[in-house]
Amino acid sequence: MTAPRITVNGTEAPISPAAPHTTVLDLLRERGLTGTKEGCAEGECGACAILVARPGTGEPTDWVAVNACLLPAAALDGQEVVTSEGLATVGAAGPPGTLHPVQEEMAVRGGSQCGYCTPGFVCSMAAEYYRPDRCAHAEPAEATGPDPEHGPNGFDLHALSGNLCRCTGYRPIRDAAFAVGAPTDEDPLAQRRAQSPPAAVATEYVRDGSAFLRRNTLGETLRLLRERPDAVVVAGSTDWGVEVNIRARRADCVIAVDRLPELRELRVGSDAVEIGAALTLTEIERRLDGRVPLLAELFPQFASRLIRNGATLGGNLGTGSPIGDSPPVLLALEASVVLADADGERQVPLAEYFTGYRQSVRRPGELIRAVRVPLPLSPVVAFHKIAKRRFDDISSVAVAFALDVEDGIVRKARIGLGGVAATPIRALTTEEALEGRPWTAETVEAAARVLRTEGTPMNDQRASAAYRSAMLGQSLLKLYAQTTEAVSS
Ligand code: FES
Ligand code: FES
Repeated sequence: MTAPRITVNGTEAPISPAAPHTTVLDLLRERGLTGTKEGCAEGECGACAILVARPGTGEPTDWVAVNACLLPAAALDGQEVVTSEGLATVGAAGPPGTLHPVQEEMAVRGGSQCGYCTPGFVCSMAAEYYRPDRCAHAEPAEATGPDPEHGPNGFDLHALSGNLCRCTGYRPIRDAAFAVGAPTDEDPLAQRRAQSPPAAVATEYVRDGSAFLRRNTLGETLRLLRERPDAVVVAGSTDWGVEVNIRARRADCVIAVDRLPELRELRVGSDAVEIGAALTLTEIERRLDGRVPLLAELFPQFASRLIRNGATLGGNLGTGSPIGDSPPVLLALEASVVLADADGERQVPLAEYFTGYRQSVRRPGELIRAVRVPLPLSPVVAFHKIAKRRFDDISSVAVAFALDVEDGIVRKARIGLGGVAATPIRALTTEEALEGRPWTAETVEAAARVLRTEGTPMNDQRASAAYRSAMLGQSLLKLYAQTTEAVSS
C-alpha cells in the first residue's frame, strides 16, 4: 500500500502529516484552500461543500457535492476533489481569471453578499450543473409553469437544500441556479465524467496510535473487523464526523466500508428489493426511481442533498438513533437487516433489530451488508416527518404508514414510529385497531386515539411529549384525508 494521497484541483498530494481523524475541510484550509468554509462543522450549513468524483449513475463518473467538514481526509485516499477555487482554475475552460459558469451566474445575479456561504453554494450548484440527466429535463420557461423547485434548465433546487445563506436571501441564488446553461464540450469537468471514476484503494493510514483503514473486499474487511471489534465503522461519516467535530471523540481505529462492492449492490427480485448498506441515499433514490414509493417519500425529507450524497441506510441503522429517518419507513415496509461476519450471514427483521437506546442485536465483528424490503408492497403509504423546518432538519416525530385496503377494509397495517421511544418502534396496538376494520372516518378517529398513546415520548428542546403524542394522532388523520379519494376510486 502506498501512502494515502488525494488529488485536489488536479494536483496530487499526500495526506500526511495530517492525523487520521483530520477532516477534508481542515486539510484543505491548512493547505491554503480557504475558499472552503466552516460554518457549523456538523453538516447543516453547506459552507464546506466540495465536489468529489464518484462512480456515476448515468455517466461513468459523477461530480458529487459533499460536506467536507464531516469526511475524514483519509477516506478520500486515491480520490479526486474539486473546490470552489478549482471550479475557476480546472473547470472554467477559459483563460486564467475566467469564472466557472455557476460562479458567473452567482456574481451577475447578486447571489452573494458577505460571501461566506458562496463557495459552498457554487460547489452544490456545480454538482447539479454537471448532473448528466439535468438537461434532459430542461423545458422552455413558458412550458414549465409554476414549479418552484425546478428551473426551466432542469435544475433541481433540492441540490441546494443543504446550503444556508444568512444575508443574501435565496431568490437571487435561485435565479442563478435557474439561469445556468449546459456544460460545453470543452469543459474539462464535463469531459471527466466520461472516464472511469477513481478506483477505491486499500488504505492503511496509521499515525500517533490511531488508524484509518480500508480494505478492498468484504471478506478482508470482516477479518479485519474480527481483529478490531472496537473499531468505528464508517461509510459516509455523516454521523461519526459530527461526533469527531462537536464532541471531540477520537477512535483508535476507523474502518471504511463505503466502497465495498458487496455493500453497493441493488437487486430487485420477485420477492424482495435488496439494497446494499453502503449505497448512498442519493444513489438508492436514483436507482430505484420511485419503485418503492414509501422510500421515494423519505428521500427528499432526509436531511439535505449534501448529506444524502454521503449517508447510507447501513449507517442510519448502524448508529441506532431513535430519531433516524429511515427506521420508521423500513419498519413500515417490514424490512430485514442482513448482517455479515467472518463466519457467514444472518437476517434479522428490523422489528427485532433495536434492543435499546442506540443498541441493537448487531454483534461486535458484524457489519450490515444489506437491507431487504419484501415484495409485494402495500399500496397506501405515507411518511410524515414533523420537524421545525421542511428540509435539512432533525425530526421531532416521524411516522411511516404502509396499508393494504381492499374493498374498503384494512387488510394489513404497518406503522413505524421515530422520536417517541428509546428506539424506533412499530405502532402494534394501532395496527391492531385498524386491521379488519372498514377504512372509515370512525375507524381512523378511534385508531388515532390509540396512536396517540403509543411509545413513551419525552419533553426535550425539539418538542414536548404532549406535542409528539398529538402529532401521532394527527398523522393518521392526515393520511386518511389524503388517501380516502385514492382508495375509494
Ligand atoms: Fe456547515 Fe460543513 S461546515 S455543513
Ligand atoms: Fe452572506 Fe450567504 S452571502 S451568508
